[in-house]
Amino acid sequence: MPAMQIPSDHPLLLRIVDDLYAQGWSQQNIFLPQDLTQELAAECHKRSVQGELSPAAVGRGPNQEVREGIRGDHIQWLEPGEALACDSYLGLMESLRIAMNRRLFLGLEDFESHFAMYPPGAFYLKHLDRFRDDDRRMVSAVVYLNDAWLPEHGGHLRMYLDDRGEYDVLPTGGCLVVFLSGEVPHEVMPATRDRLSLTGWFRRRAAQVLL
Ligand code: OGA
Ligand code: MN
Repeated sequence: MPAMQIPSDHPLLLRIVDDLYAQGWSQQNIFLPQDLTQELAAECHKRSVQGELSPAAVGRGPNQEVREGIRGDHIQWLEPGEALACDSYLGLMESLRIAMNRRLFLGLEDFESHFAMYPPGAFYLKHLDRFRDDDRRMVSAVVYLNDAWLPEHGGHLRMYLDDRGEYDVLPTGGCLVVFLSGEVPHEVMPATRDRLSLTGWFRRRAAQVLL
């Protein structure tokens, strides 16, 4: 069975692109098919149990450090060819990349992503997904992998939006949130259960410095 694919002019993708253009972010509560969500959740859980996830660092390059007072998730970067479900997810993101480039001319060249698991009580303080010394990340995309998530479990993604202020998204399985990496401050609130997701960034080419 090949990895799942959708065409880059699929209505769901066009809706996301339209939202990004109009407001800089998009929320699709039903993005991943249920079976794919379950397979990705199982894959994330397996990696967590096998000890393959590591405490996430903040910063970049030599300045990277683990600081649980800033972010407390455990992550593993994704590579193609590791699991069919992961390749299906990467295929969907590739179709979204093409859809965004066609309509928004963002010049997105690649996509990097990782599994993330926030144990109970872990959080990620308010931040932007862009480094001071590297502005290649243009668009952030988070898909949630949690079965039967209830508001009382916490773990909201809180976005700080220009037009409506604080806006909370529940990390419910299959939901996708996309936003402009350099423009939407956001944070992850603590939860009472393990909180699983796949987080990724569409990047443009690094600006060339001509000397
Ligand atoms: C991140 C992040 C949001 C979320 O990993 O940079 O902000 O809801 N994740 O998991
Ligand atoms: Mn972030």
